[in-house]
Amino acid sequence: MKPAFRIREESEIYIGPTADFLPGLLPRGRIVVVCDATIDRLYRPLLDPCERVLIGSGESIKTLQTVEKIYRRFIELGVDRQTFVLAVGGGIVTDIAGFAASTYMRGLAFGFIPTTLLGQVDASIGGKNGVNIDGYKNMAGTFTQPRFVICDPSLLSSLPEREFRAGLAEVVKTAIIADADLFARLERTSFEALRNDLDLLSDAISASVRVKTDIVGRDEREAGERRKLNLGHTLAHAIEKCSSAMNHGEAVAIGTAMIADVAVRLGLLTPDDRDRIVALLLTLGFDLTPPVDARRLLKEIDKDKKNEDGTLRIVLPVGIGDCEVRPIAVEEFAALVLP
Ligand code: GLY
Repeated sequence: MKPAFRIREESEIYIGPTADFLPGLLPRGRIVVVCDATIDRLYRPLLDPCERVLIGSGESIKTLQTVEKIYRRFIELGVDRQTFVLAVGGGIVTDIAGFAASTYMRGLAFGFIPTTLLGQVDASIGGKNGVNIDGYKNMAGTFTQPRFVICDPSLLSSLPEREFRAGLAEVVKTAIIADADLFARLERTSFEALRNDLDLLSDAISASVRVKTDIVGRDEREAGERRKLNLGHTLAHAIEKCSSAMNHGEAVAIGTAMIADVAVRLGLLTPDDRDRIVALLLTLGFDLTPPVDARRLLKEIDKDKKNEDGTLRIVLPVGIGDCEVRPIAVEEFAALVLP
């Protein structure tokens, strides 16, 4: 079976039923699955022939301590350079497992089955993996491509509504960056339709993965164009740090709406296009009220790792389906964000 997308010859992305693809993709030999207890229970028949490394769940486990636990379990199991690591789960699991696999014994081959929408459209694609340090996001990690990623839209039917919506924030983000047609298709649909119609959902996943694999294929190490995938993320990361109640997608939705306002203030985006962005996010059920005062967000941004010499690389929408990255000094950004 042919992959839907590739990142060079290194990483193949399949869209469709896991059972159709997985048997042909797993190498002969030892397979170790990294997942959490819920995935272990839900997918037991699929995973049963493989040994398991169970990890916890939630952003708080995205640490070097968890990676060390995985290494120790690998040692216990006698994992060697020939072992293949299969990570099954959401973006947190694939980020951690990808980092553990790509550093254990200087690197094992690995593949992903993302089980969340956010994982399928963003986190599992593109070879970024890593962990947080002292609450600073993704401070340790590598760029190592998974051999394969299987995005199976049917796995998402059991996803809680809130998590499904979180993934849609990244789909909207992707559409704003580079796919005006996808944006228009999303405007013509509804949250319920995307949730219940596998064809609509598969289309949204495929379109998002297409944009991401194209960009990553040109700029894997984020020297330039890949930065576009961070649309809304400078503010979103600050929101997540200030409000533990908010998930990544919810924060991205707010960050995207706020940055659309900034783009209007800079004269880069028309108020009409900003209104379309806000209307789509609201229709999909996002609450776009920042959970804390913008001043607090800006304090967090000041400490952010992308703050290179006081200059932020801010992704600004310049239309629906088009954006640009601009260096903006922190003080200038603060003046643009604050009402
Ligand atoms: N999530 C942004 C990236 O993969 O570059």
